[in-house]
Amino acid sequence: MALLDKHAILERNATLLLIGSFLVVTIGGIIEIAPLFYLENTIEKVEGMRPYSPLELAGRNIYIREGCYVCHSQMIRPFRDEVERYGHYSLAAESMYDHPFQWGSKRTGPDLARVGDRYSNEWHVQHLIEPRSVVPESIMPSYAFLKDNPLEVKGFATHLKANVAVGVPYTTGMIENTEADMRAQADPNADTSGIEGRYPKARVGDFDGNPQALTEMDALVAYLQMLGTLVDMKTYDETAGDR
Ligand code: HEC
Repeated sequence: MALLDKHAILERNATLLLIGSFLVVTIGGIIEIAPLFYLENTIEKVEGMRPYSPLELAGRNIYIREGCYVCHSQMIRPFRDEVERYGHYSLAAESMYDHPFQWGSKRTGPDLARVGDRYSNEWHVQHLIEPRSVVPESIMPSYAFLKDNPLEVKGFATHLKANVAVGVPYTTGMIENTEADMRAQADPNADTSGIEGRYPKARVGDFDGNPQALTEMDALVAYLQMLGTLVDMKTYDETAGDR
């Protein structure tokens, strides 16, 4: 009875009830949030993930600048219809170096999370120049101008440094070689051992069909061709994180 009396005091006094509620919510909130500050990583580690090569990062910037994300998501959901169409569902780790991520819940065109290696470079260039020349019913706009836009290489290291500031582990070696790596990745005659050492599985060679010039088309196609290719899903162990 005494307890009920005390509770009645709380219930009849709005200020006291407010203070009490505030305390309860605060304690609950701290219990939920505080452990996250002590975890080193909230994302399950997955074999194969690496930061974007400078050329791929430049391509990603163009992807964002041109608003490709308005029609395309990069997030395969774990539903049968999606997995059968696009491949293994997306893992959180696959977008751990994306700032900002490109997930999305609306699709006008298909999901692009695993579009890398699905088509040839020539197909991508042709598709971006005139989508309807390869997919007659397409409603995707043309991005032909990208093949005439020279790629801005000078000073691109600042983009890597900005990513370092938000936690992407670019090394000083990577930052120092930014401009050389951008040129080498799209140059069929370049020595690519450096870039392949720094960025394993990087696709190298001419991307836009014009080996003489380094264009925005090179960067965008280099980016599209690596999407979803870093983690080898054949060897990925789904239960590893539970151990
Ligand atoms: C107005 C909506 C729209 C925008 C903006 C758009 N796309 Fe698309 N995209 C589509 C549609 C619809 C398709 C499916 C038909 C086709 O293949 O052209 C498609 C298909 C694609 C495909 C082939 C995917 C596959 O699995 O077959 C790629 C790659 C692609 N788009 C890349 C891009 C890029 C890169 C950009 C930005 C430069 C972009 N899209 C902007 C609508 C769009």
